[in-house]
Amino acid sequence: MRAPKDIVVLTGSGVSAESGVATFRDADGIWAKYDYREVATPEGFAATPDLVHEFYNMRRTAIAAVNPNAAHMALAKLEQALAERGGRLTLVTQNVDNLHERAGSKNILHMHGELNKAECASCAAVIECAEDLSIDIVCASCNRAGGMRPHVVWFGETPRHVEETADAIMGADLFVSIGTSGSVYPAAGFVAEAHALGVPTMELNLEPSLNADLFTTGRYGLATEVVPGWVEEVLAAS
Ligand code: APR
Repeated sequence: MRAPKDIVVLTGSGVSAESGVATFRDADGIWAKYDYREVATPEGFAATPDLVHEFYNMRRTAIAAVNPNAAHMALAKLEQALAERGGRLTLVTQNVDNLHERAGSKNILHMHGELNKAECASCAAVIECAEDLSIDIVCASCNRAGGMRPHVVWFGETPRHVEETADAIMGADLFVSIGTSGSVYPAAGFVAEAHALGVPTMELNLEPSLNADLFTTGRYGLATEVVPGWVEEVLAAS
């Protein structure tokens, strides 16, 4: 097998699970504890902004207290190794945590936004935000309070970087999906896009996802085991 040079990797919350970050749909997941309609929709923010800020402040604090794991580190190592060989790793993540960045990954597309950024619903300014948000915060750009919201994509809103991702898949030698249940589109549809283009696909997950049958191959186990193992294989074959 020719070693892949241009790889698109899609990650979901499962890649951060062993860092201690909750996933969404596992038994003890976030949506077992919170109603997504109240905390992850524009309507929920309009109805109870304090509850939404509390939800994301709690998640931002939790993520600041954990570290990237071996899966995040392996993906950062692969990105650097491919770049040295004239290749490219495009890391498309559904996750809003910054663990890929903290592991050293650079070419990251956050489809669902980033917890450590805030945006003003009034003027759309986006700012770095590591501390708690509240409705009292005044936007530094338009000087209005009440509009600062987490820079995340809520249900019913348009995910980001979809065109860029489609372009990356078009030029890829391999599409790999890691730690996602395949529940949310358009991310869950990327494997079908790759397949239609004749791009080989692989799923690395704790268990087969909802669209597992669409993947060329699948390896199942803990991300901190299967991801480094796969990366070492790619590097050895390069
Ligand atoms: N190693 C590998 N995979 C794991 C691990 C682990 N240690 N732990 C859990 N998983 C897998 C689960 O088996 C599951 O398939 O990760 C997947 C997590 O699925 P979800 O909880 O549905 O999370 P995700 O796929 O990221 O959700 C997608 O849904 O609610 C929205 O915006 C939210 O970005 C999120 C999107």
